[in-house]
Amino acid sequence: MPGALVLGASRGIGFEFTRQYRDSGWQVHATYRSEEHRLRLRDLGVHPLKLDVGSVEDVAGLGWQLDGERFDVVVMNAGVFGPRDSSTQKPPDDPTFDLVMRTNVLAAMRLIPVVMPCLSAQRGTMAFISSRMGSISEASSSYGLLYRVSKASVNMLAKLAHVDYHATGVRVLALHPGWVRTDMGGPNAEVDVETSVEGLRRVIAEPLAYPSGQFFDYRGTSLAW
Ligand SMILES: NC(=O)c1ccc[n+]([C@@H]2O[C@H](COP(=O)([O-])OP(=O)(O)OC[C@H]3O[C@@H](n4cnc5c(N)ncnc54)[C@H](OP(=O)(O)O)[C@@H]3O)[C@@H](O)[C@H]2O)c1
Repeated sequence: MPGALVLGASRGIGFEFTRQYRDSGWQVHATYRSEEHRLRLRDLGVHPLKLDVGSVEDVAGLGWQLDGERFDVVVMNAGVFGPRDSSTQKPPDDPTFDLVMRTNVLAAMRLIPVVMPCLSAQRGTMAFISSRMGSISEASSSYGLLYRVSKASVNMLAKLAHVDYHATGVRVLALHPGWVRTDMGGPNAEVDVETSVEGLRRVIAEPLAYPSGQFFDYRGTSLAW
């Protein structure tokens, strides 16, 4: 039975990944922060694991709990947007910078060495849920400055994880889910969460069409870094 680990699975895109992989008969480990979300994941029939990605202790604890596990797919999904109005005219304050960069960037840096050994050599895929807003080539506005900078960093992390791990056969992707109707994307977003995750799963499932070390959206379109 194939296996997936979804990091940040309590709601939105992470929950939908968890639900769709479970419905496809996969064995799924999925992380949560609150008791309410632990119960939600347990009731879905997956293995809930406690993880605040900003906690060094939780990340170390996850390493212990995953010892000996093997996954076909790891989805690095947990993320925060931060202030909508940050821009080159309105830089973030220290606590906001720390929250967004620690959650989106530092956590991913710390989780890479913890989860990489759990990916099946030759067929495992590490999927970073990034954003088109992190594309430097496509940047056309500084709206959401802090989020953009954090996702540009996530893209660099995905590329470097590819550089360091592709010799083991593990594939590393940076993925843009579209503008999705979740708590983060809001009710006016363009894509429903089911469509976004179905598309992302298709990209993840096709290593020949979507090779390691690249950036794709949920429709399989190649994006410029
Ligand atoms: N929605 C969009 O339009 C869109 C577009 C591009 C990229 N993305 C990316 O897609 C990913 C998921 O976004 P979403 O729209 O599903 O957002 P969401 O509905 O706000 O969900 C965010 C998820 O991240 C988790 N999370 C946040 N901080 C965490 C922490 N410190 N430790 C552990 N988990 C944490 C949340 O867990 P809790 O429930 O515990 O808070 C929740 O499961 C993010 O990386 C986001 O940047 C989204």
